Amino acid sequence: MYRIVKAEKLAEKIFLMDVEAPRVAKACQPGEFVIVKIDEKGERIPLTICDFDRKNGTVTIVFQIVGASTQRMAGLHAGDAFQDFVGPLGQPSDFVKEDFSLVKGRKYLFVAGGVGTAPVYPQVKWMREHGIQADVIVGAKTKDLLILEHEMEKEAENLYITTDDGSYGRKGMVTEVLRDLVEKEGKQYDICVAIGPVIMMKFVCLLTKELGLPTIVSMNPVMVDGTGMCGACRLSVGGQVKFACVDGPEFDGHLVDFDEAMKRQQIYKTEEGRAMLRLTEGDSHHGGCGHCG
Ligand code: NAD
Ligand code: FES
Repeated sequence: MYRIVKAEKLAEKIFLMDVEAPRVAKACQPGEFVIVKIDEKGERIPLTICDFDRKNGTVTIVFQIVGASTQRMAGLHAGDAFQDFVGPLGQPSDFVKEDFSLVKGRKYLFVAGGVGTAPVYPQVKWMREHGIQADVIVGAKTKDLLILEHEMEKEAENLYITTDDGSYGRKGMVTEVLRDLVEKEGKQYDICVAIGPVIMMKFVCLLTKELGLPTIVSMNPVMVDGTGMCGACRLSVGGQVKFACVDGPEFDGHLVDFDEAMKRQQIYKTEEGRAMLRLTEGDSHHGGCGHCG
C-alpha cells in the first residue's frame, strides 16, 4: 500500500497529494507519469508527476475530478493509502536525456494551461536546479482555478499569469501572451513546452509554427489505462503511429495530428465508438483497458 502523507484541495475539483512511494521517488524524472489505483475495483488512472522528494521518498500528484474514480480519490485523506502506485512510466522530457551542453545554451518557454500546470512544474524546477533560465506562462479560466502560482514563481525566471475572464493577471488566453512576448517584447526562445488541454496545445502549436519556435507537448490527456494495452492513446505523429503512454507522453507538437487526437478522444467516450475503434484498429486496440473488451 502507498500511504498518502498530504492531501490538499488546490481549487474547485482539483486536488494535490503527496504519496509515500520511495522507489518511484528515487527513479522518476520530469515528464514521466504514474498509474494510481485506489483498490481492487478502482480504475487505473495515469497522472503525470508534479513533484518528487527523493530524500523523503514521496511523489506529488495533482488530479481533477473528471469521473467516478477521481471523485473517490478526492475523498481520500492523509493517512489513507492507494493499493497501486506504479511508475515511473513513459519517457522523461527530452532535456533530461539530451546532451547537457546543448540544453544549457537554450532559452525555454513553458506554457501551462489549467491542470496542465502540475506537470510543467517539475520541468521548470529542473531548469532552475540546472541553472537554465525559463519563462513560464500560466493560463486559467478564472482566478479561483489558478494552481501552483507561488511554487512556480520561485522556479521561473519570469512568470506571466493570464485568466480567460481577466479576474487575475492579464485577460485572455495563453496564446495571446505568447504572441505578445515574442512579437511586442522581442523575447527570443529556443524551445517552447506546452502542456494543458489538447485544444490549447493545438493552438499553441499553430502559433509557434508561425513563429518558427520548436514546441513540445504532453499528450497525457488521451491516455486511459497508461499501460500500452488499450490503444486509446494512439496518435499520428509526423505520419507515424505512436502511443502516448509508451512512446511519450511528450512529442514534437508540430508533428502531432491534434484534430485526429481530439476526434478519437470523443469517439472513445461511448461504447459504440470504442467498438468502432476496436473494429478498425484491430490489434492496436484490443480492449486491454477493460473499457471496450
Ligand atoms: P482550461 O480549459 O481551463 O484551459 C486552461 C488554459 O488553456 C486557458 O485558460 C487558456 O489560456 C488555454 N486555452 C484553452 N483553450 C485554448 C484555445 N482554444 N486557444 C488557446 N489557449 C487555450 O483547462 P483545464 O480545465 O484545467 O484543463 C483540463 C484539461 O487539461 C483536461 O482535458 C486534462 O486532460 C488536461 N491536462 C493535460 C495534461 C497534459 O499533460 N497535457 C495534464 C493535466 C491535465
Ligand atoms: Fe496508451 Fe492505453 S493509454 S495504450
